[in-house]
Amino acid sequence: MTLATLSDVLRPALAGGYAVPGLVCLGWEDMRAYVMAAEAERAPVILQAGPGCRAHTPLPILGAMFRHLAASVDVPVVAHLDHGYTLADCQDALDAGFTSVMFDGSNLPLDENIAQTAAVVALARSAGASCEGEIGFVGYDGGAGSAGTDPAQAARFAAETGVDAMAISVGNVHLQQGPGGGLDLGRIRAIEAVTRVPLVIHGGSGVPPAQRADLAARSRICKFNIGTELRMVFGTALRSAVNRDPARFDRLAILQETHEPVFEAARTLLRNLGASSRV
Ligand code: 13P
Repeated sequence: MTLATLSDVLRPALAGGYAVPGLVCLGWEDMRAYVMAAEAERAPVILQAGPGCRAHTPLPILGAMFRHLAASVDVPVVAHLDHGYTLADCQDALDAGFTSVMFDGSNLPLDENIAQTAAVVALARSAGASCEGEIGFVGYDGGAGSAGTDPAQAARFAAETGVDAMAISVGNVHLQQGPGGGLDLGRIRAIEAVTRVPLVIHGGSGVPPAQRADLAARSRICKFNIGTELRMVFGTALRSAVNRDPARFDRLAILQETHEPVFEAARTLLRNLGASSRV
């Protein structure tokens, strides 16, 4: 059993100069490929159940799947709730065996975000779990715009909530289908100057891989959330598997062909972040 909390994997990452990917999971095929990739790379990994995943599969099922996968390997696996919007979302995840929760109060006024995040931190602590919060707002490609993280607010947020990891908005945007212009290094350094908490980048797909590698090694960013990039690999593999044989209807045979590309892409990502050969 190698089930781990977010702190269990981020503290060594921060000290060792690497980052751990928070991989967005949508179902059994992708989460299994991610855990097998982590095992092959001797790397820690964070499995994330976000709002879309939870709308499709009940949370207790996802918790059991993550925990089953963690028990099947000997590298650290974090069962993480991504973008919990209420205290109840986070309590449900802890009840379902998750070892880490993200409370996303980034849409709330600062004092409210701090108060609610601190309450979720207390909840997580009492369950022996970790808590990630967000300060500033990370926008969505083609949707809501970002609000960059203010360093003074970040310092207050970290100190008053006690979060184990802090998601920041520094030019990152969710759902980008290719590398964007890169993150704002000046803003990252200004945040690092006023807080010691491990930092998290959502919207990791839009960050150029060379910058991801550099920041993983040389900043306090030690978690990159990656969804779109891997969902594109899965979708492309699925489409070609479906089209390759129009007579085939058994979905297990079709889905099997997604494994290798997703597994390999996850291995490449773990290597890029410097997470390989760490456990
Ligand atoms: P991307 O899909 O843009 O990689 O973002 C993932 C994410 O931040 C999930 O919280």
